[in-house]
Amino acid sequence: MKKKVVLMGASGSGKTSMRSLIFSNNPASLTARLGATIDVEQNHVRFLGDLILNLWDCGGQDTFMETYLAQQQSTIFQHVAVMIYVFEVESRNMSKDLAYYRGCLAALRKNSPEAAVFLLVHKIDLVRGDRAAVLERKTHELQQESADVEVTVFGTSIYDESLYKAWSRIVHTLIPNAAVLSKHLTVLAQACSATEVILFERTTFLVIATSTPPPASPTAITSPPTMSPSFSTPSSTHTSSNFTSTTYSRSIPHTSVQQDSDPHKLSPTRYERTSELIKAFKHACSRVREEFHSLEMELDDFTAVLDELTKNTYVLIVVHDPTIETAALRMNVRLARKKFE
Ligand code: GTP
Repeated sequence: MKKKVVLMGASGSGKTSMRSLIFSNNPASLTARLGATIDVEQNHVRFLGDLILNLWDCGGQDTFMETYLAQQQSTIFQHVAVMIYVFEVESRNMSKDLAYYRGCLAALRKNSPEAAVFLLVHKIDLVRGDRAAVLERKTHELQQESADVEVTVFGTSIYDESLYKAWSRIVHTLIPNAAVLSKHLTVLAQACSATEVILFERTTFLVIATSTPPPASPTAITSPPTMSPSFSTPSSTHTSSNFTSTTYSRSIPHTSVQQDSDPHKLSPTRYERTSELIKAFKHACSRVREEFHSLEMELDDFTAVLDELTKNTYVLIVVHDPTIETAALRMNVRLARKKFE
């Protein structure tokens, strides 16, 4: 099953940069070297069994945009499952960006009326003042431009986890059996006495599904480890409990209401942070010509195992019960493989 995803936006808005981070495991620092995309570049990524993501990165220079909207309209806009339109938060020519956006939206509606539309207000790191307020204003402006078309807007940057959050949500909409996967993950979580189990796609490390959070109870929900992005280069491919608790830190702000129902102080950004940090770790592995295989952490208050589940996925299991051994978690992952293949 092939799902076509069209990535559109003005030249220099950051389309190829995000593609290179998410699909090619490159660091943000290398994106400055990327040249302008000529015409359309296509990527195929195999997600879960027979789901293939067919990504069309469409160069944003004016001549290409004019061609997409005229001669190539049916080639570009037919059979699209998702259109992602990227806007620079501090665009120098927003009225031109919006004119092209309206053209693309109309072409999409005509050729793929069922396609979902996601808008990224990108390079949000460049905003000096109140980012939330800027994002809210931009969201309002873009929703108005979209008329009666339902759009989802994210603020993104290649320099933090926001990009993973947006892309995980987008990809999630393309997975036909996401609810079944969540159910299987819940069973696995129960078998492991885990507080949470998360399924990642292998190449991109985008979140595919998570175990359904159990109802509030003293043992409910957890925060997977939040790792410092500055940790050192790995010395072995199979890391074990040799990371200290200073290497990993937990975050995050909580209201008193959350604390009542969340004894483990859930981080709301835990999924995308994990994606971002594991990608950084994988990059560090490749710098020393090692391959990333798996990860184990045993800290004072929780244990986590990240292991290959299937050819295309990794699973992260987080447990707050100190009596549970990581070997047992790994064995359960092995036993669960068949269910997910
Ligand atoms: P075309 O291929 O011409 O359509 O451009 P593009 O949209 O693919 O832009 P590209 O990815 O080549 O990015 C242009 C520049 O934006 C590069 O120098 C990137 O480093 C920079 N860039 C991309 N994302 C971000 C971001 O989140 N923040 C900041 N500050 N710069 C970014």
